[in-house]
Amino acid sequence: MSTRILGIETSCDETAAAVVDDGAIVRSSVIASQHGLHQPYAGVVPELASRAHVERVLPVAEAALRGAGVGWRDLDAIAVGSRPGLIGSLLVGVGAAKALAWALERPLIGVDHVHAHMLAGLLRSPEEGGERLAPRDVFPAIGLVVSGGHTALYGVRSPVEFARLGATIDDAAGEAFDKAATILGLGYPGGPAVDALASTPGADDRRVELPVSRLGRDSLDMSFSGLKTALLYAARGVPGGPAPEAFTQSRRVNLAASFQRAVARAITLKLDRALDRAGEALGASCRAILAGGGVTANSRLRNELCELAARRGVRLVIPPLPLCVDNAAMIAGLAHHRLAAGLVDDLTLAPTPTTAG
Ligand code: KG4
Ligand code: ZN
Repeated sequence: MSTRILGIETSCDETAAAVVDDGAIVRSSVIASQHGLHQPYAGVVPELASRAHVERVLPVAEAALRGAGVGWRDLDAIAVGSRPGLIGSLLVGVGAAKALAWALERPLIGVDHVHAHMLAGLLRSPEEGGERLAPRDVFPAIGLVVSGGHTALYGVRSPVEFARLGATIDDAAGEAFDKAATILGLGYPGGPAVDALASTPGADDRRVELPVSRLGRDSLDMSFSGLKTALLYAARGVPGGPAPEAFTQSRRVNLAASFQRAVARAITLKLDRALDRAGEALGASCRAILAGGGVTANSRLRNELCELAARRGVRLVIPPLPLCVDNAAMIAGLAHHRLAAGLVDDLTLAPTPTTAG
């Protein structure tokens, strides 16, 4: 089934729109970041985010059409990230998508943002050569989402069937990176800054002993809040305890590298476990790991995921860096599969703060 879909994404602090053909070819992907707006608060302020989305959503959608060299009437469907996210932010994207779908008389497709992250590795630019993956090359798969709001493992039987196998019981990995950055005196969003610091030549990732949570022998859940507290104590000293080691640049570099090592270890440990159980979870042998979300941009995690996939003999499907973080191409990508499966919405589509699971 051939499709050309406009995707709209406003679930958090990026206003994004993209035009994607056939769930794979990204004709354009426009992202208006609000990082500058939220930087003074070291986190996203929901009311500021939704107001900024109102101003930007239509200009960003128009820019996506211009970038793709197509007109409104060339679109086959309008897709929108309708869950999970900040409710005020979601409302803006869902409202805009409904208006466009109604005015253009095109199907409306609400997409779960967390699920969309897992299919982002199937997207590519028109110039990119290389193999085009067919569903039989990829599904069934184990999905891994590691973002600022979510960290979870999934059994993915098809592009529209996701069953959660485990998830963080406290902070998401990206949230832990952002807090680690604050502890280390770096800016927001913290993940890229911690990554850069940890990649300093000479960084010693075993210098600081930090805990990797296992949560029991069988659990596929994860936890990052203890690690964050351990980093805080390692960096600043235990309350009432002896003064911490001087906060030199090399200490900071080693703390960042040790933290990043512990996060990557915690994630790959559970992914390895999920692969052990893939047969039972998927009812067939696993063909691929579908990884996505902002933290899959992390250099160390990417390397470890490549090694793990090679060791386990499964394909790693992971997006290029710009499609790891929030974007609208992944929304249009998943929408293609939903449209093909007849899973379309009507104008009663409501934004929902939680993921479908
Ligand atoms: O997927 P995303 O854009 O938004 C959510 O859906 O939450 O993920 C954003 C998160 C932020 O916490 C950011 O610090 C983290 O991804 N991130 C990274 C890197 N790039 C972005 N974390 C670690 N290393 C990176 N290179
Ligand atoms: Zn996201």
